[in-house]
Amino acid sequence: MSTKDPLVIFDTTLRDGEQSPGASMTREEKVRIATMLDKMNVDVIEAGFAIASHGDFEAIKSVAKVVKNSTVCSLARALKGDIEQAGAAVAPAASGRIHTFIATSPIHMKYKLQMQPDQVLEQAVMAIKMARNLCGDVEFSCEDASRSEFDFMCRIIESAIDAGAGTINLPDTVGYGEPVEYGEMFSRLMNHIPNADKAVFSTHCHNDLGLAVANSLSAVMHGARQIECTINGLGERAGNASLEEVVMAVKTRHDLMPVSTRIDTRHIVPTSRLVSSITGFPVQPNKAIVGANAFAHESGIHQDGVLKHRETYEIMSAESVGWSTNKLVLGKHSGRAAVKVRFEELGIKFEDKDQFNAAFSRFKDLADKKHEIFDEDLQALVSETQPQAVAEIYKLKHLEIVTKTGATPKASIVINVYSGASSAEAYGSGPVDATFKAIEHIVSSGADLKLYSVNAITQGTDSQGDVTVRLEKGSHIVNGVGADTDIVVASAKAYLQALNLLASSDQRAHPQHEGV
Ligand code: KIV
Ligand code: ZN
Repeated sequence: MSTKDPLVIFDTTLRDGEQSPGASMTREEKVRIATMLDKMNVDVIEAGFAIASHGDFEAIKSVAKVVKNSTVCSLARALKGDIEQAGAAVAPAASGRIHTFIATSPIHMKYKLQMQPDQVLEQAVMAIKMARNLCGDVEFSCEDASRSEFDFMCRIIESAIDAGAGTINLPDTVGYGEPVEYGEMFSRLMNHIPNADKAVFSTHCHNDLGLAVANSLSAVMHGARQIECTINGLGERAGNASLEEVVMAVKTRHDLMPVSTRIDTRHIVPTSRLVSSITGFPVQPNKAIVGANAFAHESGIHQDGVLKHRETYEIMSAESVGWSTNKLVLGKHSGRAAVKVRFEELGIKFEDKDQFNAAFSRFKDLADKKHEIFDEDLQALVSETQPQAVAEIYKLKHLEIVTKTGATPKASIVINVYSGASSAEAYGSGPVDATFKAIEHIVSSGADLKLYSVNAITQGTDSQGDVTVRLEKGSHIVNGVGADTDIVVASAKAYLQALNLLASSDQRAHPQHEGV
């Protein structure tokens, strides 16, 4: 038993993380990420902003239904309609939370809210009381806390706790804070507010100055007992404090921090990969903990040291954060039962037999091309098959590429559109460009290509390419993913999946901008 204080890990990948431009997620994708976070023992999963759109409301509800151990939370402005939607969205959860917020800084109150401080306080108290009638667990955030006035914060926080808020979050909304100053804000407030001991104080830091993790840890050293963070540091603008960094910092420097988390850190790398593949935001190789080079030793002196005694150059082990999951698991002779069990071990569930059959048939196709199937390959297969719950209007049937030195690449493509086949040819500056042009000859989608990214899923030249294509049309932004050992085929699949998402009835504007 640890004698340290519990540090609540509140993951907001599905809410603040989703506020990264282009990172919108479908309901199925949110459920898959939430399932991994639950398995990782994240204490609170903020699954969305219920009032923002019907899609986000449904996504929170679905997450609330599948999550077993974590508390499921919805964000809500301090407004009646927001609170009611948030309450309804988290109602199916075994443990739910409503997170309501209002800005408390002079600049936000004057220009954005156009309200007097007393009105802001009154509205916050009304919202918290209303939320408490719907849910026993209520969090209140002073938006832009790091630029708010001390005396007003004391007043509003004391009233918020009296009104029933069990968690008080003090966001560094614009990433302006600096570790000493931000940390001291916590200890000063906690020492000054008479009922501060009745609430858990929480950090929520943005990374505009690259200080989000440092600020969060400083707050913990000054009394905060909840950190709000995201996988891979995803989030609005420069992102939020990254979950993997704060969790591993607390674990590795337990000599400095009087807290411990419940996180099963072995799930960190698989979850990071899942988030990266769903959002299409690649993880930079030198990213702490989850970057491909985070545990790679290049220099001979370092390699020699690690071989003699690992701790000479490693402060934590690669296995402890889940790198060991990159092991050979299956091959061409593996049967249905073995494949199903491995999917389950990776936290991947299928809604029905047809969905599993589709994934298994893709597995068999892949095993014919690639001898060794790794966990990452299986995750990529599922990224492709699961969003097919969206109607598959466009489907790749045949693709032929002609490319040679000095000649313009040419693509000839056949795609099924509804049930009939259509074909087209196009030239492009490269094989992928030619393929996308050929698809557009058939579809004429009018969409703009916003992002094209290719990542090798595993090592070696027989690795699958994992392609993400982000398309934008009007206010709709979608990410299509495709994986194949042939990266041009993977690109075509990703492009067609994005078109299917755009065409489907599930299409939506950015989930957090539609209704608010
Ligand atoms: O950054 C911020 O202030 C937020 C709040 C809504 C918690 O995301
Ligand atoms: Zn935020």
